[in-house]
Amino acid sequence: MANKLWGTRFPKGTNSLTDKFTSSIAFDKRLAVYDILGSIAHAKMLGKQKIIPPADANKIAKGLNAILKDVESGKFKFDPQAEDIHSNVQDLLAKKIGQVAHKLHTARSRNDQIALDVKMYIKDEISVLTELVTDLQKAILKFAKTNSKVIIPGYTHLQVAQCVLLAHHMLAYIESLERDKERLLDAYRRMDKMPLGSCALSGTGLKINRDMVRKELGFKAVTENSIDSVSDRDYIIETLAALSILSVHLSRIAEDLILWSTKEFNFIDIDFSFCTGSSIMPHKKNPDVLELIRGSVGKVQGDLSNILMLMKGLPMSYNRDMQLDKPPLFDGIDTVKGMLEIFVALFANIVIEKEAVASKLDDEALFSVDIVEYLIKKGISYREAHDIVGAMVRDCLDKGKKISSLNNAQLRVYSPKLGPDVKKFLSAWASVNLKNSFGGTSPKQVQGQLEKWGKK
Ligand code: ARG
Repeated sequence: MANKLWGTRFPKGTNSLTDKFTSSIAFDKRLAVYDILGSIAHAKMLGKQKIIPPADANKIAKGLNAILKDVESGKFKFDPQAEDIHSNVQDLLAKKIGQVAHKLHTARSRNDQIALDVKMYIKDEISVLTELVTDLQKAILKFAKTNSKVIIPGYTHLQVAQCVLLAHHMLAYIESLERDKERLLDAYRRMDKMPLGSCALSGTGLKINRDMVRKELGFKAVTENSIDSVSDRDYIIETLAALSILSVHLSRIAEDLILWSTKEFNFIDIDFSFCTGSSIMPHKKNPDVLELIRGSVGKVQGDLSNILMLMKGLPMSYNRDMQLDKPPLFDGIDTVKGMLEIFVALFANIVIEKEAVASKLDDEALFSVDIVEYLIKKGISYREAHDIVGAMVRDCLDKGKKISSLNNAQLRVYSPKLGPDVKKFLSAWASVNLKNSFGGTSPKQVQGQLEKWGKK
């Protein structure tokens, strides 16, 4: 293994198996940019505070900036033998600028350093993730607006329930995604505290200026307890929890679309460019993209469980176990970004099978509640109205009749209050028009919501 930050204390070298087993460079190299930015801010502070000579601080910052450029341009060659990203950068800096590099780690530990790196990484990723969620909301909104005149049967228990506007159904997705964004931003707000200066766990006797580093790195505040600073991983748990809930939402949207694209439902057609075929059945056009979105949730939930198990029962404060928090964190973020990216593209490639959907709206079962409410408006109690309509629906089903075909006398058998005017409620448009309670599915309500989200 390459130079260790602690090598001299050991009377002999470590076993190569130890090196291999403890190294994290294979995955924490992803944090290189943040590690270097944190080190530059730290070096500048050390110089300003005269903890190290300002000229040395300048040399260190310059060397680090050169390394940063290499990392950003992809020229940086990570050392697979390094213990971790911190050692790798430190090592290279020493090669670049000599002994003075060894002043960088003054008043710092890898324990506060890694907490800083990961917080900076997640903060950036949350910005990307919330933008992707917004992109998806926009794609859904566009689809809703394009199809604002489409009514679909709504379902509960996956049984036909009542008519709703397709746009209303789409707006439901948009609402849930908005909560996902709020959860991510809420996690962001809580993690926005700068841990550097906590050192190993107890702070330092050197006259550091933590607020200067905070400002330089764009944190809202500094952490207030050095032990908590190096032992806390709530920000990872919260991020993965928010992503888990988000991925559950994505899986439910995917499942709706999968169902709707079946021959049985036939509500939508998904463009060929977002489907795949079968190697044996020539007729197939499968919604694999949506199935993989649905399936990816397992990975994200697994990532959350992973980190919860990892942290459970760990004693204060830093423990090396915590090194293993990164693979599930990275996987969770990568997975959800992938799901969002393709979902945005897919939504622009769905069309509604208008005629097929319209044909499903002949089912008079969709209007049973409307008839109940018609009777309630005529002074009948809810219970009695439910019984009347229940009896009528059952008879019609048994006799293979439609309510709309019953004459006045036949209607009155169920209730003297059932007049012929009830028939005007046996249509999908009449049904959605009635639902004008706030948040309901009437065109007026839905139009208001579409406009609200459009502005947002
Ligand atoms: N690589 C470690 C991690 O990811 C940080 C290094 C802390 N190591 C140590 N021996 N104190 O958590």
